[in-house]
Parts: sequence; C-alpha cells; structure tokens
Amino acid sequence: MIIKGKVALVTGASRGIGRAIAYELAKNGIHRLILIARNIHNLHQVAEDIRCFNVEAVPIALDLTLPGDVSAVMARVWRDYGDIDLLINCAGVAYQAPFLKSRSTQVQAEMSTNMMGMYTVTSSIARRMVSRRNGTIVNVSSLMGKIAAPTMATYSATKFAIVGFTRALRMELAPHNVKVMTLLPSLTDTDMAKDMQKFRGVIPMSTEQVAKAFIQGLSKDSAEVLVGWQSHLAVWCNRVSPWLLEQVLRFTAPSYLVEAPAP
Ligand SMILES: NC(=O)c1ccc[n+]([C@@H]2O[C@H](COP(=O)([O-])OP(=O)(O)OC[C@H]3O[C@@H](n4cnc5c(N)ncnc54)[C@H](OP(=O)(O)O)[C@@H]3O)[C@@H](O)[C@H]2O)c1
Repeated sequence: MIIKGKVALVTGASRGIGRAIAYELAKNGIHRLILIARNIHNLHQVAEDIRCFNVEAVPIALDLTLPGDVSAVMARVWRDYGDIDLLINCAGVAYQAPFLKSRSTQVQAEMSTNMMGMYTVTSSIARRMVSRRNGTIVNVSSLMGKIAAPTMATYSATKFAIVGFTRALRMELAPHNVKVMTLLPSLTDTDMAKDMQKFRGVIPMSTEQVAKAFIQGLSKDSAEVLVGWQSHLAVWCNRVSPWLLEQVLRFTAPSYLVEAPAP
C-alpha cells in the first residue's frame, strides 16, 4: 500500500504501539489521521505532535467496549471526514494472572476491547471499503496469538481469535480489493507491559521498532507481520518442536504466578 495522501484511522492511538504507528504514518506522508482512544487529553497531545509533520490529525474520544457509541462515531467520521483508506485496530488490554486467580470482569474487558471493539469498528468501515472496492485493514494481534503462554490464557485467547478472524476476512474481502493483515508484536516496552511479570530472557522491543516493521509489512502487503528475531525464532521452534517450546515457556514463566493456589 502507498501511504502518501491517504486517510487512516488508528484505534489505541493515545499511547504505546498505536501512537508510534500514528507517528510513523505521519512521517511517511499520510494525509489525515483519525486518532481514537478513551483519553482525549493524550489524544490531543498526539495530534499536536503529528501536526508538526503537516498532517491533519483528528482526535476522537471513544470507548470501544460500547458498540452503540462506536457505530455513532464511525458514521460521524464518515460524514465529516469521508472515506478511510487504512484502518488499524490497535487498541487492546491485557491482564496477566494465573488462570485459577483470573477475574471474570478482566476477562470480559479483554474480550470486549480486543475482540468485540475490533469487530464493531471493522464491520462499519469494511462495509464502506467494499462498496468503494478499496482499503486496507490491519488488526494488531500478538506473538501470543501464535504461541500461548502460562499466565496469559485469556489474553492469548483474544489474540488467537484475532489471527483467525483476520485470516478469514482476508480471503472474504480479497475479491472486493480490500486487503486485511495481522501485526504480531512480541513483548514491547509500553504501559501494557510495564506491570507484567516478564518471562525470563525475553527482550522487549521498542514501539518505534514495531511501527517500522508495520510500515514495511504494509508496503509489501504481507498477510502477517511478525516483529523481531525472537518472534521468528519462537514461531519456527513452535513449528519444528512444539514440545520443546512448551518446556522453555514453562521454565521461563514468572514462577510465583504459576504456583498452585491454596485449596
Ligand atoms: N506491549 C506489548 O508487549 C504488546 C505485545 C504484543 C501485542 N500488543 C498489542 O498491541 C496493542 C497496543 O498495546 P500497547 O502495548 O500499546 O498498550 P498500551 O500502551 O496499554 O495502549 C493501549 C491503547 O489502547 C487504548 N484502549 C484500551 N482500552 C480501550 C477502550 N476500551 N476503548 C478505546 N481505546 C482503548 C488505550 O487508550 P486509552 O486508555 O486512552 O483508552 C491505548 O491507546 C494491543 O492490542 C496489544 O494487545 C502489545
């Protein structure tokens, strides 16, 4: 895809990977960026930074877990700013916990943000892309959408779901000239990762590295973009010897989190 002169909508643009992607799109000559997240103060800051690149930036506060609000905002975006060429579904939440200590409210938040939020935005924008026979959709999954790990069962479930959803949509929308791809970052240095107990030996990526890999993948119309050598190694190992990878993950997992709870 050629970025120059296009209009993109990025969810989760207020910080972390979404913000870095928005900056990278601005540096690569995008015409207009619609920036979505809940925190309008952070979004205004991102928009201000982006305008330095002579890019039109439109911050919009929206909670993706509220489908009615999402539909209303998407209709307003279309009315006020026209068609979207590139949609990046990046907003997400993660709660790390041993499964037996997981809380249903947190699991619901993961499902409603990571899966249903992405679904609602995509369904309204994909419809318009199909009628124009033009567009690209990027869904942000995770290395944990390919390889599950202890203490991340429910988050992993949402990220595996995104990989499956994206593969199906890619085939379904191809005849309408709408491209669909998955971005699969590994551990990245953001607020999300800050409070997590890390797996031993995993080196976090920077958000800039992820955003650059995204731009490269976009230019090649890649179906799936894995970020960093650790991800490539893990996926290869999973293919060649899933048993071995499972042992490695069990050994490197944060140990106190996988201890058995008191009866
Ligand atoms: N960090 C990692 O190690 C890592 C690795 C692989 C994949 N990922 C994926 O990358 C994506 C971005 O993660 P990140 O690390 O950049 O996390 P982050 O720094 O915590 O940012 C999450 C973004 O999602 C937005 N968001 C969360 N809930 C929302 C809601 N209900 N409605 C609207 N926006 C919402 C947040 O904005 P507000 O709080 O302002 O709403 C924020 O912009 C996620 O999908 C994550 O699963 C992250």
